Amino acid sequence: MSSPRVLLALALAPILTFLRRRSSRRSRKLPRKNERILLIGASSGIGRTLAHQYAALGVKSLCVVGRRPDMIAEVASEADSATAREGTTEVLGVAADFTKVEDMVNLRTQLESKWGGIDTLIVVAGVSALRPLLEISGKGDKEGIQHLVDVSNRAIEGNFTGPLIAAATFIPLLQRTSSSPSILLVNSLASAIPAPTRALYASTKASSLHLYQALAIEHPLIAFTNFLPSTVEGDFRASAIDGGTPREADPNKTGLKRVDVARRCIQAIERGEKNVFMPWVMGPAHLLYWMWPRLLERFASKKYQFSVETQ
Ligand SMILES: NC(=O)c1ccc[n+]([C@@H]2O[C@H](COP(=O)([O-])OP(=O)(O)OC[C@H]3O[C@@H](n4cnc5c(N)ncnc54)[C@H](OP(=O)(O)O)[C@@H]3O)[C@@H](O)[C@H]2O)c1
Repeated sequence: MSSPRVLLALALAPILTFLRRRSSRRSRKLPRKNERILLIGASSGIGRTLAHQYAALGVKSLCVVGRRPDMIAEVASEADSATAREGTTEVLGVAADFTKVEDMVNLRTQLESKWGGIDTLIVVAGVSALRPLLEISGKGDKEGIQHLVDVSNRAIEGNFTGPLIAAATFIPLLQRTSSSPSILLVNSLASAIPAPTRALYASTKASSLHLYQALAIEHPLIAFTNFLPSTVEGDFRASAIDGGTPREADPNKTGLKRVDVARRCIQAIERGEKNVFMPWVMGPAHLLYWMWPRLLERFASKKYQFSVETQ
């Protein structure tokens, strides 16, 4: 790519980001003391921190969901203690799996009978996968490729089917019971800028991003926010569904802080922002990828310590 095009791309990127941010804002009118929030994927990490922050802000009701009952009970009790002094947040902990239709429909029935509905749905749950694709399929024989398909189905379940079921279950409830409905999907920068060793992760996260972006057009009365952070501190990679181990720098040293990510999620919902990159500079970087892919591919290979020769 010639240098005038690169310069033009660099000059236009911040302007486009600024215009996009301004045009996507539609501030929310709902006071926090009236807000009923459903947080799916709250047993650890970003979701857990969001639970603490929402309770401290004194929202009306907060339901925390995850598969591990002991962890969910712990988060619910932490949120109870974080409730603002003058606040009266009602905290509900529910152990449920968002990839199971029955669990989500039961949850909806429970929330409708207890609270009369919800105002905000936050989908944080997701699964990681860390290995180069052809490492998962091994020798490329029948068994190896079948193993790859099995791993891929687990990635699809955790990163696409779960968000799909959550949307199909809770959009009707939001539309029926909230005067100011919002949905935030915690997605990933990997959906916008591809990375080596993340083929399954990035492609399955991208599928739920596109799903929610299309749903935002189909449901204009719901404010949708898609949140795309880069690496965040925590143990997300420890439970990788492909058994992979991270090659990049320790996220607990270099990643975004969970408290900052959670704070930015809440701000984005309240401002009605549509697509949020964190850090913001990844928005222009994503545009740059389409204009100068090789540059971004080089950065991504470096970050994930990947080279074709070492494969
Ligand atoms: N960490 C990062 O570097 C990073 C970067 C960009 C984007 N993200 C995205 O941020 C989100 C949260 O990541 P995190 O760092 O907070 O990871 P985390 O600590 O592993 O949190 C994931 C949460 O999702 C829940 N969950 C997973 N599968 C579920 C299911 N089937 N049903 C219900 N809950 C389920 C887990 O609880 P249970 O195990 O109890 O179910 C856990 O509470 C993910 O969607 C991830 O893609 C993370």
